[in-house]
Amino acid sequence: MTGDRAGLTYREDYFDDPGGWAAVKALLLAVFDVDVSPLERMGGRDRTLMSSAWFDGSGRCAANLSAFAMPLLIDGRPVDAAGLQSGAVLPEFRGRGLFRDLLRRTLQRCEERGFEAIVLYTDKPELYAPHGFAALPEHRFVGPAPAPAAVDAKPSARVLDMADAGDLSLLRDLLEAREPVSSRFAVCRNTQTFLLNTALVEAVTLSFLPEFPAVVAWRQQRAGETFTLLDVVGTRIPTLAGILQALALQPQSAEVLFPPDRMAWTGDSLAEDGDLRFMMRRGPVPTGAFRLSPMAEF
Ligand SMILES: CC(C)(COP(=O)(O)OP(=O)(O)OC[C@H]1O[C@@H](n2cnc3c(N)ncnc32)[C@H](O)[C@@H]1OP(=O)(O)O)[C@@H](O)C(=O)NCCC(=O)NCCS
Repeated sequence: MTGDRAGLTYREDYFDDPGGWAAVKALLLAVFDVDVSPLERMGGRDRTLMSSAWFDGSGRCAANLSAFAMPLLIDGRPVDAAGLQSGAVLPEFRGRGLFRDLLRRTLQRCEERGFEAIVLYTDKPELYAPHGFAALPEHRFVGPAPAPAAVDAKPSARVLDMADAGDLSLLRDLLEAREPVSSRFAVCRNTQTFLLNTALVEAVTLSFLPEFPAVVAWRQQRAGETFTLLDVVGTRIPTLAGILQALALQPQSAEVLFPPDRMAWTGDSLAEDGDLRFMMRRGPVPTGAFRLSPMAEF
């Protein structure tokens, strides 16, 4: 072990050890101010997680990087991809090469597992570019909302309550059976990420549309003038007009935060200008404008 790593121990896949899980939770809270505790009442961690970390002598997690299976559909083709997340080093351990070491090990583990592509979000793309990751611009889709099919319809949808065990289990079952929300670019399966995002994504409403069945993640802006669609989880994907009808909403404009090829609606693509960059290593680059649903962001 090098001098810089004296007193530190390398460990893998420690999330089933309560001490290991608590230490990683504390690291993520300290570095990102993100609390992953809601996962505990939502079925626990993603079982595909492959984590690599350095722990100090007192059991603190000094540095962590995790990969998880994130199967994607890109231009109609299933892609066996991994997502990288929770890359963090406690301030007092930075600048010693710990992150470089974890990235090298994680990429090696992903190679051994045979993932075709690796994706991540970061505000520091320069950290990953030397390791074969390229930033891909993301776009949202905006345009006039489709006309409602039945103007005075009552909503057929009801709002889900994530504190209710029945609603949580209904959503989980749909997440496990879902169709990708887009054929152009979408996750096929991301149950735990979606569940955690129900607690982390701001001002999102989850509505259950029993006629499909599907759960729609949405919000309104400008006093209801704009309807924003974040994601649809269903075995059948309703059109945008069908969703608005089920919610009994008549907005003037719509924005869809994933490619709307299954929505029977088209919008203009608008480049996202946030701090986070989506990066991909290997794998097929999507041919058209795309973005991942905020409910699939990690
Ligand atoms: C970014 C972070 C993970 C780096 O950890 P670290 O252990 O200090 O990094 P290392 O010492 O292993 O350095 C690895 C490389 O990253 C570079 N680097 C370090 N901190 C960086 C930063 N803030 N911005 C850009 N590059 C950085 C180093 O120069 C080094 O480059 P090299 O391999 O060409 O020499 C750590 O500062 C951190 O936890 N920051 C807050 C959370 C975060 O930003 N996470 C990663 C983004 S998703």
